[in-house]
Amino acid sequence: MFAIHEVNALLEDDREFWQLVYYPRLGSTNTETWRLFESAGSAGTVVITDDQTAGRGRGANTWLARPGLGLTFSILLQPDLAADRAGLLPIISGVAVAEALANAGLPVQLKWPNDIYLNGKKTGGILCESRISGRRLIAAVIGIGLNVNNTPGDFPPSLRQRATSLRHESGRKFQRETLLAAILNRLRSWLAQPDYGAARLVDHWQKADLLIGAIVTMNVAGTKVIGKFAGINNRGEALITAEGKTAPFASGTINEFREVE
Ligand code: BTN
Repeated sequence: MFAIHEVNALLEDDREFWQLVYYPRLGSTNTETWRLFESAGSAGTVVITDDQTAGRGRGANTWLARPGLGLTFSILLQPDLAADRAGLLPIISGVAVAEALANAGLPVQLKWPNDIYLNGKKTGGILCESRISGRRLIAAVIGIGLNVNNTPGDFPPSLRQRATSLRHESGRKFQRETLLAAILNRLRSWLAQPDYGAARLVDHWQKADLLIGAIVTMNVAGTKVIGKFAGINNRGEALITAEGKTAPFASGTINEFREVE
């Protein structure tokens, strides 16, 4: 059972912005958040479940979460943002998660654009979906899944080498309500800044960037791009350097990366 009132009690500035809705079981919190948007849900709605049965990941991926062990939630935003800056949303969300977890003693790293890593294994993922009208973003749903109190046996054998949890890496159990409140507080603080504090945001991302300086292989619409990961720009795009030239990429999937010796 997830105690919404405990999260509400820990919310800081502008706490009335958030409206938390809890469902014991749901298919996907992202799908439910879009349903609420269509039935007049407002920005700041947060949909949380303890048991997500059809979690969605990026592309064709799924997200598996064991009941009651993780944090599984989605946030509805209606940001005043040009469509070509929608890539800032996974960045702002990743930075908010990284800050909240760092304050809990967990130095997570961020893998562009949407993965949360701890000690070289994935411990969370972010799925940002947007609705665009003309050149403006009219709504966005940010879905966040974090493996919190899982033990290795809670992951299917096929994932054990690649997936981990906050508990497994730190040897401590965490109160999920406290973590959620910390993430929402950090997110609210970034959202309140003009232009989302883009320049400072890039600095914060850089400090937690898992890939910086690594040689990456990125799949961009069926084409492979290989180069050195040079960070992100203030639109949240990945910067890749190949043959002496650095180019921005708004979307893509990085499946392979290796440190330069
Ligand atoms: C990824 O790693 O590809 C992203 C995973 C995102 C999973 C979260 S869990 C909460 C929200 N609801 C979903 O259906 N997906 C996101």
